[in-house]
Amino acid sequence: MKAIEIRNKYLKFFENHGHKIIPSSPLIPENDPSVLFNTAGMQPLVPYLLGQKHPEGTRLTDYQKCLRTNDIDEVGDNRHLTYFEMLGNWSLGDYFKEESIKMSYEFLTKELGIPSEKISVTCFAGDEDCPRDELTAKCWEEAGIPKDRIYFYGKDDNWWIAGEEGPCGPDTEMFYDTGKPKCSENCQPSCDCGKYVEIWNNVFMEYYKKDGKYTKLEQKNVDTGLGLERMTMLLQGKETPFDTELFSPVMDKLKELSKNDDIASRRIVAEHMRSSMMIVADGGRPSNIDRGYILRRLIRRMTRHLNKLQIDLNELSNLLDLNIDNLKEMYPELDSHRQEIKDVIIAEKDKFMKTLNNGEREFNKVINRLKNQGLNKIDGKIIFNLYETYGFPPEVTKDLALENGFEVDLTEVDKLFKEHQEKSRMGSEQKFKGGLAEQNEKTISYHTATHLLNAALKKVIGENSHQRGSNITTERMRFDFNCDHKLTDEEKKKVEDLVNEWIEQDLPVTVQTMKKEDAIKSGAECMFIEKYPDEVTVYTIGDVSKELCGGPHVKHTGELGHFKIQKEEASSQGVRRIKAILEDK
Ligand code: SER
Repeated sequence: MKAIEIRNKYLKFFENHGHKIIPSSPLIPENDPSVLFNTAGMQPLVPYLLGQKHPEGTRLTDYQKCLRTNDIDEVGDNRHLTYFEMLGNWSLGDYFKEESIKMSYEFLTKELGIPSEKISVTCFAGDEDCPRDELTAKCWEEAGIPKDRIYFYGKDDNWWIAGEEGPCGPDTEMFYDTGKPKCSENCQPSCDCGKYVEIWNNVFMEYYKKDGKYTKLEQKNVDTGLGLERMTMLLQGKETPFDTELFSPVMDKLKELSKNDDIASRRIVAEHMRSSMMIVADGGRPSNIDRGYILRRLIRRMTRHLNKLQIDLNELSNLLDLNIDNLKEMYPELDSHRQEIKDVIIAEKDKFMKTLNNGEREFNKVINRLKNQGLNKIDGKIIFNLYETYGFPPEVTKDLALENGFEVDLTEVDKLFKEHQEKSRMGSEQKFKGGLAEQNEKTISYHTATHLLNAALKKVIGENSHQRGSNITTERMRFDFNCDHKLTDEEKKKVEDLVNEWIEQDLPVTVQTMKKEDAIKSGAECMFIEKYPDEVTVYTIGDVSKELCGGPHVKHTGELGHFKIQKEEASSQGVRRIKAILEDK
């Protein structure tokens, strides 16, 4: 079965069980400052898991584009991916454990035809926060899984939460037995020898965790996630996702073009190329911070491994076309953004090649200096400095050093990099703490302010200015928009004055549910048309703004306070960024 068939079967199955199919949100979350990319299907649904009414009802299903970069350095082995697709179904205060498990079992065994004997499941063993999940185990038994394939584990394995704060609960995970021999007497699903592969995770979301404490949610939800690439690989009896049709045309082409047989490099190129294309299609651009930096890293790493494979970098254009053609049936947005994707990725590759060349010049200077001093050893600090200052990758430094007859001392490099990684990890955790689903008066006000700012920019710099992203915390808002020039002081003042004028007028903010096509016809602004379901909510502010948006918003603009632009700067090519605050009046 091909990936797209699995996806379609899944959506159809849950549609037949009363679920509404909703479209994937873009990879880049809107109005959620807590994450750089969507990392799970539940992320765009957080407000609804917390009780807000979803316009499509209480049973939803979708495929969600996801990106997880914590394992980026593992890509190249036989299983890690950064981009992946998660199939999911949700009950928003509707069905719970019984029905969820029944449907999962039926889907796996009847629709996908997985023999029941190949399925093992795990349940939450219970602790002081939440009791042992006997009901889940009972449901599995009733469905047809015998006791000896039902395992109980603690929070490390059978509890799900995104980050430190948010909706969460015990989960039940389904594992596929690959038929490989047990690695030991005690081999079981929690073991990562490769015999058991996790295929689906149903989270029974009953709790909210904040500051280490759990409180009960008002509604009991089910949130499930099934990784499409992995399921495709298993059903096709393949050893890795790279052997499935999702990657094989690109993998084959890379093999044909490369001058060596470095399979890890081929996987890295194919994988990072796919992720980069998906990010660019959803509006991401390379930069030195946050998600822009992740995109930059993906493209750089891809370029380096193209080099390692000794593939002419001019082939990149054709490789991108091939990759887009291969995936466009699943992701039509790749085809509609083809030129943009190619332009951005190729430009970033060229920029990186310059970095590499500059780094190499610098490297040569260092080598000559050391030679003059009669030294033949290059130490960790030098390698790390070349990386920090010139972006020159340590493995390239190492290769060149060895070629020049130098010894390389890598012990310190590892230490310096660990420190560096720790710093960036702390940075992103900090970001997470920014508050998943943190919706309080302040962030809601900022959210409404982004609509006003969007409208004001259209008046001041032109109708072609569109929102390209936003990021809100309780302290400030950030807003990205298309614009080909730095705003003049006069333009900034005009924008600020307009927004404040609208706030003074205390305009009503109203919401309406309507068909997506009617909303578009009525001239409502929207950032990603593919993102929205057929029924959408449209927020209107007086007669100045109309946008497709999930909310929430204030009721009257008078609640906002005084709007003040703090900074206007470049965000990426053709995109400017405004940082602004709302001051108490
Ligand atoms: N949120 C859960 C996961 O990511 C289930 O969708 O696995």
